[in-house]
Amino acid sequence: MEQTKYLLDESQLPRRWYNIRADMPSPPQPVLHPGTGEPVGPDDLAPLFPMELIMQEVSEEPEVAIPEEILDIYTLWRPTPLYRARRLEQAAGTRSRIFYKYEGVSPPGSHKPNTAVAQAFYNKREGRTRLSTETGAGQWGSALAFACKLLGLECKVYMVRISYDQKPFRRSMIQTWGAEIVPSPSEDTQCGRAILEEFPDTPGSLGIAISEAVEDAAGRDDTSYSLGSVLNHVLLHQTIIGQEALAQMEMAGVFPDVVVGCVGGGSNFAGLAFPFVREKIAGRDIDVLACEPAACPTLTRGLFAYDFGDTSKLTPLVPMHTLGHDFVPAPIHAGGLRYHGVAPLISQLVQDDLIRAEAYLQSDVFAAAVLFASSEGIIPAPESAHAIYGTLECARKADEAGEQRTILFNLSGHGHFDMAAYDNYFAGKLEDVALDEAEMERALHAIEGLPVPA
Ligand SMILES: Cc1ncc(COP(=O)(O)O)c(C=O)c1O
Repeated sequence: MEQTKYLLDESQLPRRWYNIRADMPSPPQPVLHPGTGEPVGPDDLAPLFPMELIMQEVSEEPEVAIPEEILDIYTLWRPTPLYRARRLEQAAGTRSRIFYKYEGVSPPGSHKPNTAVAQAFYNKREGRTRLSTETGAGQWGSALAFACKLLGLECKVYMVRISYDQKPFRRSMIQTWGAEIVPSPSEDTQCGRAILEEFPDTPGSLGIAISEAVEDAAGRDDTSYSLGSVLNHVLLHQTIIGQEALAQMEMAGVFPDVVVGCVGGGSNFAGLAFPFVREKIAGRDIDVLACEPAACPTLTRGLFAYDFGDTSKLTPLVPMHTLGHDFVPAPIHAGGLRYHGVAPLISQLVQDDLIRAEAYLQSDVFAAAVLFASSEGIIPAPESAHAIYGTLECARKADEAGEQRTILFNLSGHGHFDMAAYDNYFAGKLEDVALDEAEMERALHAIEGLPVPA
């Protein structure tokens, strides 16, 4: 019988995170202070983050040791399994070999606790007792609520209104782990109240929810802000995924020709891909593919520019592909991919042609999700289903070219709390939205006059 799962023992858990900044051919450009236009220093960030995370944000060390206490919590679900998707290969009728790394086995159901646990740990060690954050799909909010509960911290979650309404059980999950949760925009912050006054019916966006969580943390000494994606230290924590996958692909006796992941802010994609991009920089031939929604096509159609990470311009200026900080993406069901920007490390690697990106319509993505569930069994999160569709497209193109490829993708989470989205798909109610050119031009006006990356 051929093997389906490749499993590592707990003793094989990677003990270091991989920092791609040490190997990048073009160093990422600095994050700027919006008032002075100068690079931000540790002191500028200290009101929001503990010093250890600020140091990881700017570290040039190729590897960062993972503290024992974090490894101990990781063993609740790590190492995660790597699967050969034989049944999917058959259902798709492809000659290519498809593998996937499954992060949905974590208690909250996605890759997000890999960084939530690390962030809660460093905050606690530096004396903070409360964290504030945003959440889109609810995966990040539940991951941080879970991590805070395990480490004994309070947690406040601002959940994008459309997801708050679409996913009542993510809310219940966040409450089960003891966190406070409100729909965003909310009445609890100044920027939330201002947005509600102007746009009372807004579905919300990650950009707005980030503004609220940052304002919350900046106003209280006991509170740090915690971000579930985009920042260098978040991507760093996720690299445990790709390091495990490297070992598991070796167990399977293969090396991927293609590595695929979905991209919201970029953390699950980077987590799987960066250890492979390290190999690519060292000379191996790998196609690294980032998959995003056509409704929020940050990497494929956004500008590489300096922009704010949030709608109310409370964050520093970040060099990234952006659709403009006041862009509110259409309410597609992949709530975790509705972000106007993307991680600067990924943006820079796209600029340097080490990563490429594609954008997909949601009915194609859901068709791929159902094909996957029907063959492999697991019901994927709509976000992760973008990577499934990207993988199937790679396999189809390889078949057409008469080639066989080995494709590895990240199944970043399960979709057990996304069944309303599946219901809409089965009822034929999903709208296929590709971002309109005029709306894109309008939204990009917001970054006029900001500094331009070198
Ligand atoms: C399951 C899942 N995958 C992917 C994402 C996108 O985030 P990121 O690009 O940071 O991995 C999310 C975000 O909420 C998610 O819940």
